[in-house]
Amino acid sequence: MSNAPFWDPYLPQFQQSPYAAWQQLRDEAPVYHNEKYGFYALSRFEDVLNASLDTERFSSAKGITLDGIPMEAPIPMMIMQDPPQHDVLRKVVNRVYTPRRVAELEDRMRELCGDYLDPFVGSGGFDYVEQFGSRLPVMVISTLLGFPEEDHDQLREWSDMMLHREEGREGMSPEVLELLTQTSMYYLSILQKRRADPQDDFITALAEAELTDLDGTIRKLDDMEILGMIGLISNAGNETVARMLGWASLVLCNFADERELLVRDPSLIPVAVEELLRFESPSPIQGRYATRDIELHGEIIPQGSTVALLTGSAGRDERQYADADQYIVRRNAARHVSFGYGAHFCLGAALARLEGRVALEETLARFPTWSVDRSAVEWVATNTVRGPASVPISF
Ligand code: HEM
Repeated sequence: MSNAPFWDPYLPQFQQSPYAAWQQLRDEAPVYHNEKYGFYALSRFEDVLNASLDTERFSSAKGITLDGIPMEAPIPMMIMQDPPQHDVLRKVVNRVYTPRRVAELEDRMRELCGDYLDPFVGSGGFDYVEQFGSRLPVMVISTLLGFPEEDHDQLREWSDMMLHREEGREGMSPEVLELLTQTSMYYLSILQKRRADPQDDFITALAEAELTDLDGTIRKLDDMEILGMIGLISNAGNETVARMLGWASLVLCNFADERELLVRDPSLIPVAVEELLRFESPSPIQGRYATRDIELHGEIIPQGSTVALLTGSAGRDERQYADADQYIVRRNAARHVSFGYGAHFCLGAALARLEGRVALEETLARFPTWSVDRSAVEWVATNTVRGPASVPISF
């Protein structure tokens, strides 16, 4: 029987358990070519890291999702631009998205955790993702961006609907398009209000910020650039953190000794979050476009190919991590590529880390142990994020 390396990102079994396939890719086909879809995949830590740094040959400008390359960005988004163009927007947002704004969210996060988790104390169980993990990030991002509090529930509802309608489909359905239009109109209305009546918030700061174009022109961001940035931050920051928290509920149950370690010594929680990101990467596949023929490990990736950088596989690379398939809080290998690397290194990494820490502190303080009904776990089925959509826990 043929046992050639094989990985199909669209088959549910590979979405749920990709690790055996990825290990075979790393060992036998470090430059994997999927003939059915025509893409290439890099799976070793070092290759993923080097390709992430090499934006000239591995371009983001024609899209970053496997099934969407090549495409033109509908509105300007830095995640779909290469340096030096990318850096123009990144520099502006770096000035607006300050450590102060992130740190200020901690109290709000704790308050939200209390609101969501307290009702379940003594209840016997709840769905950790549906009733907590996927709710928290939307509220946090809405606070960060400065959306009025009375709109937060509506925003979460749209975000939920978008996620559920996307499941299992390729391309964009009319329902999703409509939801996108609805949210964009909402963003635009807030932007217009902030332009008329500036506040001490992120959107006002974006509207007032000046950028220097590549030709030296100094100007403000236009509406489309601001909408692109808000949309990018909302999308990138909601789904990924929801999946990270879902993984926390599964992995800490599977590795109960490690969980006990955290209950006894909560100061270990930040490294536990880092190890969680290595172990189960919420965003395991970054798409790129080969701008020229690229030679690697004796193979040629032809110019014009779609290339998958498998950050999820890189986190399990035995060449980089001892006992890569074990979740070990005390391992000293915090370096991982689950937030990407180089120019596109995740803008929200500090926020995601803070959310992970606060959520776990608040969870473990109330529920030091739990078990999971594995047969009832449901999965998010997209080829950009990977993780559970529903994790019923009981205690
Ligand atoms: C655990 C949670 C998160 C994970 C695993 C994650 C993962 C990633 C990865 C892998 C990239 C690089 C994409 C690429 O190279 O093409 C990225 C970029 C990005 N992330 Fe995150 N992310 C998370 C949370 C967030 C949050 C909370 C925000 C919002 C503040 C955010 C905003 C962004 C943005 C704006 C980019 C694009 C950066 C650029 O192109 O310069 N992410 N993220």
